[in-house]
Amino acid sequence: MDGNGRWAVARGLPRIEGHRAGIDAARRVVEAAPDCGISTLTLFAFSSDNWRRPAEEVASLMRLLEWYLEHETGRAMANGVRLEVIGRRDRLDAALCRAILDAERATAGGERLHLRLAIDYSARDAILAAARGVAEWSREAFERALGPAVDLVIRTGGERRLSDFLLWECAYAELVFSRTMWPDFSAADLAGAVREFHSRERRFGEIPHVAAAPHQAWLD
Ligand code: IPE
Ligand code: MG
Repeated sequence: MDGNGRWAVARGLPRIEGHRAGIDAARRVVEAAPDCGISTLTLFAFSSDNWRRPAEEVASLMRLLEWYLEHETGRAMANGVRLEVIGRRDRLDAALCRAILDAERATAGGERLHLRLAIDYSARDAILAAARGVAEWSREAFERALGPAVDLVIRTGGERRLSDFLLWECAYAELVFSRTMWPDFSAADLAGAVREFHSRERRFGEIPHVAAAPHQAWLD
């Protein structure tokens, strides 16, 4: 979800208006995701490095996140969305923690979409926490601790980097970069990114499919 600030500044608005508009984009994408074949969607709402922003922007973002959780819970329940927040909670204020717990509890039965909201999230910190918590150091144990492998990452706002997002889980993720600022991101943009994903050949280290066939025939 990148480009909120630039979207607002380009319209002569304060940055927080971009974050507000970003909530509408999040709602559009959440509603469109299941029809695009997406069963788990993670939105990067606030990174652990975003604490470095000016205090007023951080405070406004925190208020918006609380508002989002309180106001989207009903819609999530109606649409079969199970909401989960990933990231650290010890630096969030009590009201936001309460809103997170309430939203997670209320939507626990959702089966259409697993919506993960990353708040105070750092993939490097998540990997370190997993390393401390797992009984054995295996890929499977880390996957259980961190979450499932990611198939597709969509980065909006023209940036081309991962910015500490789901680094372990993205080992074989397909990356789609969009110049669209997040508040303008539409259901059609999501469908386009998913189409792009399906056009890619995912080899996971193997050789291309076409090249494999003759070699296979010769071996037989
Ligand atoms: C993404 O938009 C929202 C958050 C990181 C909270 P930005 O705030 O990064 O917007 P730009 O990149 O400054 O336009
Ligand atoms: Mg940004």
